[in-house]
Amino acid sequence: MLQAEGGGASAGLFRACAARRAGVLRDLEGPALLPAGQAAPRNYPANRHPFRASSHFLHLVGAALPGAWLLLDGEATLYVPTPGPDDALWHGPVPGPGALAEQLGLAVRPLEALARAVGDRAPATVTAQDAATRSDQGAWARDAEADARLADALIASRLVHDEAAIAELRDAAAATVAAHLAGMGHTAPGRREWAVRAEMEAALGRRGMGTAYGSIVSVHGEVLHNEHHDGVLAAGDLLLADVGAETRTGYAGDVTRTWPVSGRFSPTQRAVYEVVLAAQAAAIDRVAPGVRYRDVHLAAARRLTEGLVDLGILRGDVDGLVEDDVHALFFPHGIGHLLGLDVHDMEDLGDRAGYAPGRTRSGRFGLGYLRLDRDLQPGMAVTIEPGFYQVPALLADDARTARAGDRLVRSALARFSDVRGIRIEDDVLVTATGHEVLTRALPSAPESVEAEVGRCIA
Ligand code: GLY
Ligand code: MN
Ligand code: MN
Repeated sequence: MLQAEGGGASAGLFRACAARRAGVLRDLEGPALLPAGQAAPRNYPANRHPFRASSHFLHLVGAALPGAWLLLDGEATLYVPTPGPDDALWHGPVPGPGALAEQLGLAVRPLEALARAVGDRAPATVTAQDAATRSDQGAWARDAEADARLADALIASRLVHDEAAIAELRDAAAATVAAHLAGMGHTAPGRREWAVRAEMEAALGRRGMGTAYGSIVSVHGEVLHNEHHDGVLAAGDLLLADVGAETRTGYAGDVTRTWPVSGRFSPTQRAVYEVVLAAQAAAIDRVAPGVRYRDVHLAAARRLTEGLVDLGILRGDVDGLVEDDVHALFFPHGIGHLLGLDVHDMEDLGDRAGYAPGRTRSGRFGLGYLRLDRDLQPGMAVTIEPGFYQVPALLADDARTARAGDRLVRSALARFSDVRGIRIEDDVLVTATGHEVLTRALPSAPESVEAEVGRCIA
């Protein structure tokens, strides 16, 4: 991802970062120290996994600078490592503190000066993802209360996106749409899942972007985060692709489409697809300021359940089925999550970001995987991603199916054996009056999806 030079960040983003830093500084009571993180070596130090800076750091600095630390201590100062003698040879020149300061609009000092600036205080921080930085964080004492205050300040700053962040999310959405059109267009029986994945990721690469998470491109859509791509596409399969762009400044797209490999849904596939699509529409319709996200989830659950009752897969009263979590046998995850610099934005902070103060995760099967339970506000971005999955392990789980009893009609379900997994996922921005689907340019109506399949091959 981006380096300080050629990273893709604009002066507007750096100005936005300055305003974000000012906001976080106002919320702090003592010093805070946020690391960019470091690239993990694969097997020796110069052969590294791609570097991806911490999202908190990107939010406040706008540039990915390996090994840098942002000190917030009444004012903001960036501490950057001094390149070693061989660094320019292997990794190219990096801008010095003066050039960086001018580019970022931020005071920049050499890393050697950091320990003295912190002294023997315990600066608040967020535990880094990489082991080397976590070990460096061990050099300072930790103060759990200060860490919690910093986490809350970061959440307040990142929960509602500013204009610069929204522009990035739009870019991520546009590239993600292009990737999915490429995936549909290059699908044909006999191809491998990895060939479709390659076309999708190439569409991102051509825009200077990468992926925001490991791409899921699988005919086994019932494996929710399927990491395998070696399956061969058969004419009767549905292909589920969950692929999202990461912009050069780190913002994520997160979209899923499910399409028929042959270019035509079977009647059973189409019937279930339309139920999932209706559930998605019911959820998106509800997205507006002041609406509790859990109610968006429940609206989708109810619409999905109604559809499954209409298909004969479930029977009984819809509200009762949802209250007893019977729908969760087929839709076991939440309706979505926050989206921003992370695809599951700020989940490194646990439920502190996703759950409003005073709200906690439910122990219910049908609500326990819900990652977000806040009242929506203009400027928040969320995904809306209902699905239908036949997960053999769930359907064979006596404890989970016992509650359904004869409301689960297995003889009817057997007719839908060619529907292993369907998910339809879009990225939605909460606006002052309702919502805007950032990824609306990507078709989801069944006939529109069918029309795209194989288009780049024909
Ligand atoms: N791409 C992961 C998710 O949809 O949550
Ligand atoms: Mn998602
Ligand atoms: Mn996704």
